[in-house]
Amino acid sequence: MAVSDKGLLGIEELSREEIEAILERAKHFQPVQHQAVKKLEILRGKMIVNLFFESSTRTRTSFEIAAKRMGADTVSISASGSSVSKGESLVDTLNTLAAMRPDAIVMRHAASGAPHFLARHLPIPIINAGDGTHEHPTQALLDALTILDKRPSLEGLRVAIIGDIAHSRVARSNAHLLSKFGVEVVLCGPSTLLPRELEHLAPNVHLTWDMNEAITDADVIMMLRVQLERQHEVLFPASEYFRFYGLAQEHIDRAKPDVIVMHPGPINRGRELSSEVADSQSSVILNQVENGVAVRMAVLERVLN
Ligand code: NCD
Repeated sequence: MAVSDKGLLGIEELSREEIEAILERAKHFQPVQHQAVKKLEILRGKMIVNLFFESSTRTRTSFEIAAKRMGADTVSISASGSSVSKGESLVDTLNTLAAMRPDAIVMRHAASGAPHFLARHLPIPIINAGDGTHEHPTQALLDALTILDKRPSLEGLRVAIIGDIAHSRVARSNAHLLSKFGVEVVLCGPSTLLPRELEHLAPNVHLTWDMNEAITDADVIMMLRVQLERQHEVLFPASEYFRFYGLAQEHIDRAKPDVIVMHPGPINRGRELSSEVADSQSSVILNQVENGVAVRMAVLERVLN
């Protein structure tokens, strides 16, 4: 599926060439973030609706800023203030919004596959801003851009993704993207948060519950938040989590000397990583946030033009 047919639903269905094309355009938009006047005219006259059924700070603001920097108009709706709380079905809500003829809908939903389902029923492009535990395509794209700011290419890198793999759409989208570029992807977490079947998610994906093994010789360490909102039973002893799966300065010595530490945010200091690591020279957490705007500008351009 081309990015523009139905919007952007996931990384799995994108070709390496399509990903490269988006990243090239995102690189072109990176300097715009530092200009005195940041507004372009490329999407002037376009209307984008941001529809978020789950909490979001980074992704929602980033999509909105990206759309405005491209010259588009935006309307942002969260489920709590909409008619969803009056019992309207998802399809009816989306059809209502589509009847106002926006040019694209950016949506986040707790159900895996919700944007894919809607893309089959609606005549306008849908951009997935995170669907349940399934995919978060623009996060993987901005993560790739952030790695490429520090490394000449992705080929041959070793990326350790650590934490609540089971509930992470960020892990899945990143594994798909990185695997397409010949990266060795190591998924690591407590066994209850590391489903065995993810070994078959994509080529070059390996699993381990041993954090030291995952980190040894890593070029990139990507830490994940423990997604308590998606856990309905006790899957790990909370007081022990940091001791076994939290990233501390002593771990960094096992990785490559110029290792990059990433986290999609929001971070929980002292649970997934120490403050020392989060604020260290190795951390690119705020670079990820900055790159999110350039990547979303590139995605909106590709979908709408
Ligand atoms: C992630 C998400 O929502 O999947 N956050 C984000 O978009 N930056 C990860 C998370 O919530 O832990």
